[in-house]
Amino acid sequence: MRSEEIYGNTFYNGDCISGAGAHIPNDSIDLIITDPPYGINGDRLHRHYNRDESFVIDGYVEVAAADYGEFSRRWIREAERILRPGGSIYIVSGYTNLYHILHALRETRLREVNHIIWRYNFGIYTTRKYISSHYHILFYEKPGGKRTFNLESRYGALERGPDNRSPNYSDREDVWCINRDYKPGQVKNKNELPTELLAKMIQYSSNEGDLVCDMFLGGFSTAKVAVGLNRRVTGFEISEEIFERKIEEMREIQPGYLLPTLRRPETGAPKNRGRPWTDTERETLISRFNQIIESGETKKRAVETLGEELGRGRWAIEKMLKKEGIAGNRRVYSRR
Ligand SMILES: C[S@@+](CC[C@H](N)C(=O)[O-])C[C@H]1O[C@@H](n2cnc3c(N)ncnc32)[C@H](O)[C@@H]1O
Repeated sequence: MRSEEIYGNTFYNGDCISGAGAHIPNDSIDLIITDPPYGINGDRLHRHYNRDESFVIDGYVEVAAADYGEFSRRWIREAERILRPGGSIYIVSGYTNLYHILHALRETRLREVNHIIWRYNFGIYTTRKYISSHYHILFYEKPGGKRTFNLESRYGALERGPDNRSPNYSDREDVWCINRDYKPGQVKNKNELPTELLAKMIQYSSNEGDLVCDMFLGGFSTAKVAVGLNRRVTGFEISEEIFERKIEEMREIQPGYLLPTLRRPETGAPKNRGRPWTDTERETLISRFNQIIESGETKKRAVETLGEELGRGRWAIEKMLKKEGIAGNRRVYSRR
């Protein structure tokens, strides 16, 4: 099987089932992100999308609908074998053959973590039914090790938006609204996944230096984003035509090039988080709260100031104030 090495990352032009069997050792991959052929005559997908076919690369290899179940079982068994214990796998799938993928997953030891809905723009336009505008992303783990989940890789747990809602919470809800990349005039593979979608999975589920695998490279989108975020990467693409073209683009990708574009989350847990409150601390909390309110500040501001002074989070301060009998903005006096 032909392979190319770029910055120490190996890409294979061939079938991922036999290719993984021959080249990828057991338990060696930290994260798999993959988007298998859909088994729905994908080589004609452009007709649904009204695309200008001259910009869509030829050579996409589809799997016959009748073979899809067995095909899914075979590549998912390989995915299970190569994933390290505690490793994560994200599989992007349409609805039509989702049951085959779910069935194949259930024949392995892989365990469901989340079923994510990816809602995108440019759904297939219809007039006599609802417009289809989502894909399924099955997020599974291989049991037996610690799974990487970087809780604060994108938003700090204590950050608040202008509406006082937690962006960390919203970012981790299981419906993701992410637009497809719009690439007018550029030659692309069918179903290229957007950078934002791939970056999100990679940030939460891997660290720099980890090894990411895409069993169906297509436009090499996973590989490009993984390298851009300083991960190592490997993968397979069966089509010679696609491989030849996309491997050239891959050579242009500089390791880490996406890192400066990432948002910096505000992390840093308060220094006394989780420690039991002492009597002195509770006295200080009440007397300082009263002083701050008397100086004309709001309760919200008082809580922020006390959080900084006492090295505690907002919720901890509010909970203790309530316990000490403070309601709303009202001054209270220490009971001691
Ligand atoms: C849905 S596309 C992947 C798109 C990719 N995620 C992207 O963002 O560009 C699936 C790709 O798998 C390739 N493929 C089909 N059967 C394969 C196999 N057995 N092994 C490796 N690649 C295969 C197809 O040629 C196609 O390029």
